[in-house]
Amino acid sequence: MAAALPDAEIVLSAEHLTKRFGRREAVSDVSFDVRAGEVFGFLGPNGAGKTTTIRMLVGLARPDRGAVRIRGLDLARDFRRAMVHVGCIVEAPDLYRYLTGRENLVHFSRMLDDGATGRIPELARLVALSERLDDRVSTYSLGMRQRLGIAQALLGNPDILILDEPANGLDPAGIREIRELVRHLAEDRGIAVFVSSHLLSEVEQTCDRVAIIHRGRTLATGPVRELVDRVASDRIRVVARPARAAAGILAGFGEAETSAGEDEGSIDARVPRERLPDALRALAAGGVDVFAVERRLASLEEVFLDVTGGETV
Ligand SMILES: Nc1ncnc2c1ncn2[C@@H]1O[C@H](COP(=O)(O)OP(=O)(O)OP(=O)(O)O)[C@@H](O)[C@H]1O
Ligand SMILES: [Mg+2]
Repeated sequence: MAAALPDAEIVLSAEHLTKRFGRREAVSDVSFDVRAGEVFGFLGPNGAGKTTTIRMLVGLARPDRGAVRIRGLDLARDFRRAMVHVGCIVEAPDLYRYLTGRENLVHFSRMLDDGATGRIPELARLVALSERLDDRVSTYSLGMRQRLGIAQALLGNPDILILDEPANGLDPAGIREIRELVRHLAEDRGIAVFVSSHLLSEVEQTCDRVAIIHRGRTLATGPVRELVDRVASDRIRVVARPARAAAGILAGFGEAETSAGEDEGSIDARVPRERLPDALRALAAGGVDVFAVERRLASLEEVFLDVTGGETV
């Protein structure tokens, strides 16, 4: 984990959240902090408990155990004062399709502070909807509706934006627009952004930190790069001749696989870093010619496979 930022920077914390439906626990003891200026990813496959957790974060579901704190305020005790700091879209934006984009934003801004209506033009520009703002929402594409939803969530000038699978159903261009918007909000405006996703590549490209949730439990939490490096630290690729003999020797130091035989070929191996010098000496002593040793880069997918014991997203 990176060095913890001071408490003042923590905008939202989930503390031991647990939710049962009947006898089944959909969310079990989930804890994390979301900090100002970061994009925090909540990564998990269908049914992992993402939406259930988000519903607890915004007061749509009551936890059986645990608490949510927003800017230090306990959501259960101080609901209104806490929610002033939150903008959210749970599952799909709540929009009136027969109204225009502008009418929707005006409608929702009436429930907020006096400045909210005045923010509409700027927010429309921010989500690239200025030119379509006076068209009915029923004529919008899915990506446009998602962006209007984000503008709506930002009307109250929140410190934290919570988005449940904002990339769902969007094409690559739409996904990229949401990604750039989310990065901008965090980096340039200092907003804390919490996004759930089942898309590994999306989380890898968008998020600073991630919690991996699987069957209601968080299996790993930390900076994306650190999690990836942790899994990758012992993964190497060796090019050697004869490849099969090299794989046999490397297997004595960890794991090694090759499909090559007596010729030169590559071997994918896992050798702990501190044992690598010995492994290379053993290769030389075994009469193997080594042409290259490189560290293999891991992806978030490998982290996911590692922490879930081989299950895919
Ligand atoms: N109201 C409910 N009543 C009973 N079970 C529920 C309810 N809501 C969710 N669940 C169960 O809780 C588990 C987690 O569901 P949840 O919707 O939180 O998953 P998710 O990670 O958001 O999945 P998806 O990626 O499909 O949106 C599932 O097993 C689901 O069936
Ligand atoms: Mg969901």
